Amino acid sequence: MAAVMETDSVQVRGARRLRGNVRVPGDKSLSHRALLFNALAEGTARVRGSLDGADCRTTLAALRAMGVCIEATGDDLTVHGAGLHGLREPLDVLDCGNSGTTTRLLLGILAGQPFFTALTGDGSLRRRPMGRVTEPLSRMGARFLGRGNDALLPLAVRGGALHGIEYALPVASAQVKSALLLAALFADSPTTLTGRTDSRDHTERMLRAMGAHITEQDGAITLTPGAPLVARDVDVPGDISSAAFWLVAGAAHPDAEITVTHVGVNPSRTGILDMLHLMGADVTMANVREVSGEPVADLTVRSSRLRGAEIGGALVPRGIDELVVLAIAATVAEGRTIVRDAAELRAKESDRITTVVEGLRRLGARAEARDDGYVIDGPNALIADALESHDDHRLAMTWAVAALLCPDGEATAIHGAHWADVSYPGFWETLDSLRA
Ligand code: S3P
Repeated sequence: MAAVMETDSVQVRGARRLRGNVRVPGDKSLSHRALLFNALAEGTARVRGSLDGADCRTTLAALRAMGVCIEATGDDLTVHGAGLHGLREPLDVLDCGNSGTTTRLLLGILAGQPFFTALTGDGSLRRRPMGRVTEPLSRMGARFLGRGNDALLPLAVRGGALHGIEYALPVASAQVKSALLLAALFADSPTTLTGRTDSRDHTERMLRAMGAHITEQDGAITLTPGAPLVARDVDVPGDISSAAFWLVAGAAHPDAEITVTHVGVNPSRTGILDMLHLMGADVTMANVREVSGEPVADLTVRSSRLRGAEIGGALVPRGIDELVVLAIAATVAEGRTIVRDAAELRAKESDRITTVVEGLRRLGARAEARDDGYVIDGPNALIADALESHDDHRLAMTWAVAALLCPDGEATAIHGAHWADVSYPGFWETLDSLRA
């Protein structure tokens, strides 16, 4: 039984078997976007299944602080759009908590506002690079002042008249791409993005569905400003990044069968399925359908004989957040797993290359950090120990998956259990239900 204690630690015991049919909370990326984009639209939209985690609550609070009316209607949210030019100068600093998506997407929007804003965040967020957004937004005409040469929170923003730019994205980051597309809505000429545009495409899909003029040719994305956004209801599917914990647990555990229903399977997000297939996992997809412009399906995983794999290149941006929990699959897999081209892992909620490798070693696994990824030799028999979450929700949940694979009954202590709430409220309860 996982027990959350007053000290913010949980004890997770090795599981004899894992069985269940679960539904994971709403997709974090889509929830942020449904709120932010509808706030900039004309009309009213209902957002169903939005993630009620700490990250999305910061987006909600920031929008309300800028005068957007968002009502909770049962489990749904109703957003009364303020229109592209309807946001108001907030009275105080906007606290983005732990959320990089809130910060970077807001920076894009704020760049186009004729008022002053200041943003800050928690200890983890204040360490994360914002220059990748403030630098191109400055080229469009916005002004920023902040720590680290205007590249770290807290940041002050003075938005205003923006010009379209041509910009080659140096990293495959949907947050950077989205910030620039949002700013482009407020510019006086088109913006074209080239380079690493191969990150998740939820922004392009949703903005286009709301009436924005976005075209794509040979990987170049052009937004031509001028069209108003029209509010659009969004049904948010389950988050494949949250489903990934159960997919890895199910594939790696010797006696498991788990189905996760109603999961978003946008091809720019399904890298984890391809990675697990490369490792020999038995994961199947059923009932593929389209919901609010995004593909959705049910995923079933069964105990699998896993083997090491080489993961890099185009697969990495399609599963960047899942490379944390994938390391657990690699520790029990036969042979060597090499993850490369993933230096971005160092710029997440923690330096995920360092934190994952250090934690795995405490569990007795043969793991090594590389500049741009990690190498794990398996199989390893995991030994229960005490592990740190490092202010990182995905790390807290990854250690829980590792703990399930430890010898039956042996307990692993995970410190910083509350971090799971950032993207997966109810995680610890679902973990318990799967042992039944
Ligand atoms: C996200 C993009 C990714 C991802 C994050 C959510 C988004 O970050 O890691 O969890 O919603 O756009 P990057 O854009 O920095 O790669």
